[in-house]
Amino acid sequence: MAKEGFSSKVGAIAAAAGSAVGLGNIWRFPYVLGENGGAAFLLVYIAFTILIASPVLLSEFAIGRMTGKPVTAAFKQLAPKKKWYYIGLSGVLCAFVILSFYNVVAGWTLYYSYLSLTGQLAELNQAEISSLFENASSNPIICILGMLLFAGLSAFVVMRGVEKGIERYSKILMPMLFVLIIVVCIRALTLDGAEVGLSFLIKPDFSKLTPESLFVALGQAFFSLSIGMGAMTTYGAYISKKQNLASSVFSIAMIDFFVAFTAALMIFPSAFAFGINPGQGPGLVFVTLPGIFNQMAFGQLVSIVFFVLLAIAALTSTMSLLEVIVSFMSSEFGIKRKMATFIASTLTICSGIICAISSTVFNFFDDFSANVMLPLGAFFIILFVPLVLGKQKIKAELEAHGQEFSLFNIFYFLVRFIVPIAIGALFIYCIAGWLF
Ligand code: TRP
Repeated sequence: MAKEGFSSKVGAIAAAAGSAVGLGNIWRFPYVLGENGGAAFLLVYIAFTILIASPVLLSEFAIGRMTGKPVTAAFKQLAPKKKWYYIGLSGVLCAFVILSFYNVVAGWTLYYSYLSLTGQLAELNQAEISSLFENASSNPIICILGMLLFAGLSAFVVMRGVEKGIERYSKILMPMLFVLIIVVCIRALTLDGAEVGLSFLIKPDFSKLTPESLFVALGQAFFSLSIGMGAMTTYGAYISKKQNLASSVFSIAMIDFFVAFTAALMIFPSAFAFGINPGQGPGLVFVTLPGIFNQMAFGQLVSIVFFVLLAIAALTSTMSLLEVIVSFMSSEFGIKRKMATFIASTLTICSGIICAISSTVFNFFDDFSANVMLPLGAFFIILFVPLVLGKQKIKAELEAHGQEFSLFNIFYFLVRFIVPIAIGALFIYCIAGWLF
């Protein structure tokens, strides 16, 4: 495979961080947190990110870098048995499912950028803000147009190739978004009535945790770190051998967590201050943010910049999803990058139209990808490490930079026992609960 490498060593890591930080942090995390009771869910999410998701991310990077190939080709090379290849293949399918609804949400952010630019969000009261979202999200024209525009944009970026496309965007704009979130956070925390929202986030009430919410926390941890379907394996192929993989995983997980946490810190105090139901689902961010912006100095400007940056954060994430499909098509069938991007985008647009029209399909794709496909994918990717690679190979890859990975034994213990058992147990428990 002709690799289109990154121009600098940090390029691949920055792109992986760009993949991780996206709508999953700012749109999905607050809404699932709100639906699952707040602080207790947050604690579980943190534990899962450290103990389960980070080892999976590290394994994905290692598998990718070891072979220099995208996930399906990597599995093919490392494991002669065909069954592993199907795991890689299911990741390609998962990329389709995620892109279908993700592009619709990203389309909403474009629509909200347009609304802020034209001043249509200014001075609306809470009831108007809520009904605006209700009307927009149930209007097929708005949803389809937004989705089309966004999918077209990301196809354009991916067609230009990894190096030029991805690297340039992720490095400057992501930190800007983070700073802006902190600014909005400060305003949110000083609203009248913000304390209730704050305590929702920091005072755990464990009675609100159900086994199902544990499962949702796990799915969210995978979704947020872009793992369980090979996106990070594909990016791992571009990481330099000199790069310390473990410390890269640490930085990415920290960045990803803090963006999600500050997003929650901006949403919940405001939601409670404005009397919004925190458990209302996927619309939460869109019905909360315009209200805070309206209470800020330069609110309209903040609103424009925020939604544009959010759309760009979504773009650096969809690029990684498209990359999985495109690199699959080019390594398996020799289809040229531009053509592969065109085919992949056309297909995701078709399924995206269904998500744009039907909220049932939208919700099903959202839940099914994060709560079923990613945990299953992660389960097999993690099994691959002890069953196919073995301890020495993975250790050698993680220490390829010549430094010792001091936590290796803990990592390997998590990989062999904790991660597969935890995913398997939660999975069986929840599937059984749904069936019976
Ligand atoms: N992690 C991204 C976000 O939080 C979404 C994403 C990009 C993703 N690539 C992925 C999720 C691969 C799962 C798998 O918005």
